[in-house]
Amino acid sequence: MKRGCLVTGVAGFVGSHLAEALLALDHRVVGVDNFFSGHRENMASFADHPDFRFHESSVEEPGLLSRLGREYGGLEVCFHLAAIVSVPYSVDHEEETLRVNWDATEALLGEAEAMGLSRFVFAGSAAEYGEDERLPLLEGYVTPETRHLSPYGRAKHLSTQRVAASPIGVALRCFNIYGPRQDPRSPYSGVISRFIDFAVAGQSMVIFGDGLQTRDFIYVGDVVSAYLAAAGLGAFPSPLEPGVYNAGTGVGISILELADTIRDLTGNPSSHRFMPERPGDIRHSLASIAALRDRSAWRPGVALREGLGRTIAHTLSTRRTAGS
Ligand SMILES: NC(=O)c1ccc[n+]([C@@H]2O[C@H](COP(=O)([O-])OP(=O)(O)OC[C@H]3O[C@@H](n4cnc5c(N)ncnc54)[C@H](O)[C@@H]3O)[C@@H](O)[C@H]2O)c1
Repeated sequence: MKRGCLVTGVAGFVGSHLAEALLALDHRVVGVDNFFSGHRENMASFADHPDFRFHESSVEEPGLLSRLGREYGGLEVCFHLAAIVSVPYSVDHEEETLRVNWDATEALLGEAEAMGLSRFVFAGSAAEYGEDERLPLLEGYVTPETRHLSPYGRAKHLSTQRVAASPIGVALRCFNIYGPRQDPRSPYSGVISRFIDFAVAGQSMVIFGDGLQTRDFIYVGDVVSAYLAAAGLGAFPSPLEPGVYNAGTGVGISILELADTIRDLTGNPSSHRFMPERPGDIRHSLASIAALRDRSAWRPGVALREGLGRTIAHTLSTRRTAGS
């Protein structure tokens, strides 16, 4: 059955993949973005789709959801991904980060509840755990005492708490997402997109610290499936119970191992370079995904090597197109 879905952050990396998947499942999508960090070209594959409407605006626009409901009708699910995503930017712009990443979430969720939407799915983050060293990280480890390392982590935590307490709210605490369309141009972008960008150019990859720090990297397609599971769409017949769920793979990999794998897959002859550790970088991060696995049929399906291969192929094809 065709459902009306709102995707905020639709011009971003994850939001554009989610919109593409929803349209492929024959749902209607209203997308919102203000291009703060997203790009119009991310929407190229679906911008002209008859079931897609784009509304260029900030999620801070008062009464946004009600207005979109009136203009487009029949909204049933809100996927709220729009956010200031750069941790360093959030440190320098605390007030703005709290406004966009927390106040706007609260306002949108309030509207979604009042309009009777069936689900409000929020993009939480592993940054909500601060520096917790108990691995794997369980959802319940985040408490009011958790010390967040940035306004980004703090705002995500506040929003997750509010969303998870709502009768229609599901917060997905996503770990390190990677895949095609992740922007390597930003100085704050994910390590995988930067490594691949350097590797396909035959340049050496820069590793901060000793490279033995570990992360839980999840392919964007698996994150999209988790969003579908949360809302009970596609292969998932019923939505997730309201609450907070980690979205990761439950497998940690070191940055050094990651660099070696990318070097191997790209045939990059340059070896990596080490730079001093960056202050504030956490040592290890690993999700427990028991909650999401136990309460849904969702499973991470794309192994790291396969996901990296797809991402590299996409980067190469984009470069060829740009060069032709
Ligand atoms: N990429 C990851 O590894 C990761 C990990 C955990 C959580 N997340 C969360 O997932 C979501 C999507 O992240 P992404 O990696 O796709 O980042 P992205 O920067 O590609 O996407 C974010 C989108 O939000 C838009 N946006 C920012 N401020 C806005 C505003 N005020 N109004 C409307 N749109 C606005 C941006 O223009 C962009 O298109 C974010 O909420 C992020 O915090 C991402």
